[in-house]
Amino acid sequence: MSSPTDEADALVIFGISGDLARKMTFRSLYRLVRRELLDKPIVGVASSAWSEQELVEHARQAIVDSGEKLSTKVFDRFASLLSYQQGDFGAPELYRTLAERLEPYSNPVFYLEIPPSLFGQVIAGLSDARLIRRGAQRVVVEKPFGSDLSSARALAAELHRYVDEDQLYRIDHFLGKMGLDEILYLRFANTVLEPVWNRNYVGSVQITMAESVDVGDRGSFYDPVGALRDVVVNHLLQVLAAVAMEPPAASDPRTLKDAKVAVFRSMPEADPKRYVRGQYDGYLKVDGVAPDSDTETFAALRLDVDNWRWSGVPFLIRTGKCLPTKQTEVRLVFKHPPRLGFIPESSRRPEPSQIVVEIDPSTGIQMILDARRAHSRGAREIHMGMHFADEGGEGDTPYEVLLYAALCGDSSAFTRQDGIEESWRIVQPLLDAPPPVRPYAQGSWGPEEADRLPSGLGGWRGPWLD
Ligand code: BG6
Repeated sequence: MSSPTDEADALVIFGISGDLARKMTFRSLYRLVRRELLDKPIVGVASSAWSEQELVEHARQAIVDSGEKLSTKVFDRFASLLSYQQGDFGAPELYRTLAERLEPYSNPVFYLEIPPSLFGQVIAGLSDARLIRRGAQRVVVEKPFGSDLSSARALAAELHRYVDEDQLYRIDHFLGKMGLDEILYLRFANTVLEPVWNRNYVGSVQITMAESVDVGDRGSFYDPVGALRDVVVNHLLQVLAAVAMEPPAASDPRTLKDAKVAVFRSMPEADPKRYVRGQYDGYLKVDGVAPDSDTETFAALRLDVDNWRWSGVPFLIRTGKCLPTKQTEVRLVFKHPPRLGFIPESSRRPEPSQIVVEIDPSTGIQMILDARRAHSRGAREIHMGMHFADEGGEGDTPYEVLLYAALCGDSSAFTRQDGIEESWRIVQPLLDAPPPVRPYAQGSWGPEEADRLPSGLGGWRGPWLD
């Protein structure tokens, strides 16, 4: 029998006709084929009455629309791996046919790009057809993993009826981005940094995920969700964990995940008084949004990590749609130095040093220092930094990284249920007692109220200062 870490011999994608497949999956799989990392059969499953040729055409269009340069040779190789199975997810017949089709394969990976409300039904169908067995085949699933702590627990309980936790590969696409590995490596591979990466030297940690786009055509998805559930409880808490965790003692997935979950365990529940919600002007006119919606498209909050390394250091998180730029970054703002008595002509206090890890779309590291040239008047910030150049101008897409890891059986970059539950525990008070939503102008940095969160810390030091 195969185990959840054996290499896969086929990939079965439920929901292949959906939006996520169109926007992300085909492109990522195509790129894996181009890099000669994927040569396994791919079976798409959906209810649409498509022929295999229609699936191939749909895939071609999706890859072209994603901006990828299409090579006919590579695409033909990719298309030769693709096949299609139409069916109703609720009908046992689908799983019987699938079982016949998958007869030659012992370790297919099942990727569910479908709403979580259908996970249980599909996994039950796969289990009844003996396509998945407890302790064997992997099932890759997409967020949202619940909408609060109790629904996250209920969803896991439903899945655990058929599969063990280590068979579940939960995608958080931020864990496939360049940046998170770099944070961990930067911290612990540099003797100059590790000793100062703590409450003795760091004044605050600021995590910004700014998006310049609006909600677009996702109104009906976004409106019941909002920024806190959409990106904070998952993506941004994962970023926070990479900044705050202790060095994992080994590279196996369990040790890595334990170190991450330990951060969440040391975080008290968030305080609604330190949470600001905003909604951009014009959001109520978006298709699919309720006319009186008070869903937040901007969230700013302060969290604490109450352990020896971080006690007393505010972790400030800020995210929103329609902000002035697109950039995700982590900024460590070091403590403020005292007034420098040996500079007679100025009473200006030096600015605190900063280390910035840019995650996306630019990826790199910067150090911001206060410097002064001898005999000149005044000091200025100097930025020392580098940007990671992508291989051949194009780095791996998050889905390329994650789907490849899922095929190889490496679960390091997937989230685990205890971490998911801890994350919901931390934000649950914000869901239970949300502050009123404040309007903000498109292209601004959110409502003014958000500026109060870092008061006493010199304010937000966001990407716009660069
Ligand atoms: C998704 C959210 O998980 O992440 C979107 O649902 C958000 O609302 C997206 O825009 C951001 O991802 P990326 O990779 O574009 O930074």
